[in-house]
Order: sequence, then structure tokens, then C-alpha cells
Amino acid sequence: MSAAGVDLKKRRFLTAATSAVAGVGAVFVAVPFLGSWAPSAKARAAGAPAEADISKLEPGQMMTIKWRGKPVWVVRRTKQNLADLSKLTDQLTDPSSEMDQQPEYCKNEYRSRKPEYLVAEGVCTHLGCSPTYRPEMAPADLGADWVGGFFCPCHGSRFDLAARVYSGVPAPKNLSVPPYYFMTESVVLIGEDGGAA
Ligand code: FES
Repeated sequence: MSAAGVDLKKRRFLTAATSAVAGVGAVFVAVPFLGSWAPSAKARAAGAPAEADISKLEPGQMMTIKWRGKPVWVVRRTKQNLADLSKLTDQLTDPSSEMDQQPEYCKNEYRSRKPEYLVAEGVCTHLGCSPTYRPEMAPADLGADWVGGFFCPCHGSRFDLAARVYSGVPAPKNLSVPPYYFMTESVVLIGEDGGAA
């Protein structure tokens, strides 16, 4: 074999060996790198959908579920509540839900999949306080026209029982409606759009 032939053989061997080492190095580097990007169990749980068992919710009652660190309300509205919603249009900032504060399937008169149930995030669109559920009619502090809704104690914003904001208060938008659907007649899954209404 000529000297040139030996050199060529040696170069091929060195190239192959270097590539192999580089490959092994890449594996060792890639594993911890991928590991650091995988969401932790805690993070996955924080973003997971949340179930609400509404089987014991009576007309006029509200329950609160925690989803993504936020309070989400489920209110079972009475027939009277539903009738009152249509009378408030003139007093509201966005009565027809034109602003992007709900999924498309809740862009309706009741802002919900089923008229009887309101599902809304309990986070004020002014500065993020959680409004208080005030279902009573005409309480002294809210006035003779009050037909039930939510009152934000921080700066006085008011919302009706479709979580629509009244005009002339600090909050600029209706409360958000999260994605949700009825898994069964008595279980609501908050955080996913799937399934039939
Ligand atoms: S945070 Fe609700 S009115 Fe300001």
C-alpha cells in the first residue's frame, strides 16, 4: 500500500471515530435538554380541564370551580332570571357579546350552551378582583332596579346574570366565558370545547 493509501485509510478511521463521539455527545446533551422542556406533572395539572358536578345545584345557586388558578362560576339561573336578562339590554356595554369574551357557541342571548346554566370566569375585567354573587332582588345597597348579578367590591363594577357588564362602571368588558361542555346532564367539563352542547 502506498503512503497516500495509508493516510487516506487513517483519515477515514479518524472521521468515523469523531462522528461516533459527536453522536454520543449529542445524545447526552439532548436528553437533559428535552427533560427541561417537558411540562412537570404540576404544570400539566394546572392546565388540565376541571369537572363540575352540578347535580346538587338548585335554581338560584352558584358553585365555584378552580380552573387554571382562576375561579370559574356555574350558576343555575331561575326562569325569572332568564326573563329579566332581556330587559337589561339598554343598560349594558356589550349586550350582544360582540367583544371576544366567549367561545362562539356562547355568543347568544344567555352567553351559555344551555340557558339554565351560566359558566363564567369570576375575574373582573377591570383589575382582576373577583366579583361577589348577588342574586337577590333590589337589595338596599344595589338599588331598586337590581335583578340579580355580580358586584365587584374593588371599584364597584356590576354584571348581570349572563356576566355582561353594566355601562358606566370601571370594567370595560363582559366577564370571560371559558371553553366548556356538558359531559353528562350533571357534569360540566371546564377547559374543553368538545362534545355536544
Ligand atoms: S377590579 Fe372590579 S371594578 Fe375594579
